[in-house]
Amino acid sequence: MTKYIVLLGPPGAGKGTQAQMIAEKYDLVHVSSGDLFRENLKQETELGKLAQSYMKRGELVPDDVTIAMVRDRLSQPDCINGALLDGFPRTPAQAEALAKMLEEFDGAVNLVPYIFVPEEILVERLSGRWTCRANGHIYHEKFNPPAVAGICDLDGSELYQRDDDKPETVKNRIKVYQEQTAPLIAYYQEKGLLANIDGTQPIETVTSDLLHAIDKAG
Ligand code: AP5
Repeated sequence: MTKYIVLLGPPGAGKGTQAQMIAEKYDLVHVSSGDLFRENLKQETELGKLAQSYMKRGELVPDDVTIAMVRDRLSQPDCINGALLDGFPRTPAQAEALAKMLEEFDGAVNLVPYIFVPEEILVERLSGRWTCRANGHIYHEKFNPPAVAGICDLDGSELYQRDDDKPETVKNRIKVYQEQTAPLIAYYQEKGLLANIDGTQPIETVTSDLLHAIDKAG
């Protein structure tokens, strides 16, 4: 049976960190809309250039292009068993579009773990984040440091800091999250799909809470 899990939470909550572990455990493809935009930017596509103009300000990329990009990714053969969605949906219109597209794929959202972390912690997390150039592995200089500074433990590639992790941009990303994405908490709660996960705990504890919630949902 297909399984679609949506990770919900503010910027810096730990969605990407947890997604990498959970996708592996359940053999699901990790579909991150932010990573898809960054990949387009790296390839210098028109979509990448368009997305960059929004991302650098911490604004959301318009729904129509975001929905089309995710639909295209979920239609790929490797998503046949489902996917772990990270960063999508981010607006009520995206959530509605996701429900419709999953119906076409004979599936539905099975669970929405909501990783909650208070705002003051998010800024510290994002300002200390380092990401691996080759495969997007995520580190933090204080909370999850690599063995050798600047080098990914897993693939030896260079670590870099994201442009949109500058304090001014982070503040706007959090504001945009509160205004446009937070309404999805109630949306999925009403559908009985929400699982609250305390994202302030150590990374391994958050992982085990997530695994428990996913196993419980079946
Ligand atoms: P995107 O790439 O999706 O960024 P985001 O949602 O803002 O989330 P982040 O990647 O910043 O945080 P995260 O929750 O994954 O945290 P992480 O695991 O890295 O989006 C970027 C931009 O793209 C958007 O602003 C928008 O412009 C555009 N975009 C993307 N999707 C879109 C959509 N659907 N619609 C429109 N526009 C879209 O962890 C953060 C740090 O904390 C790391 O350093 C990590 O090591 C550390 N950490 C993680 N967990 C813990 C823990 N438990 N304890 C201590 N430290 C921890």
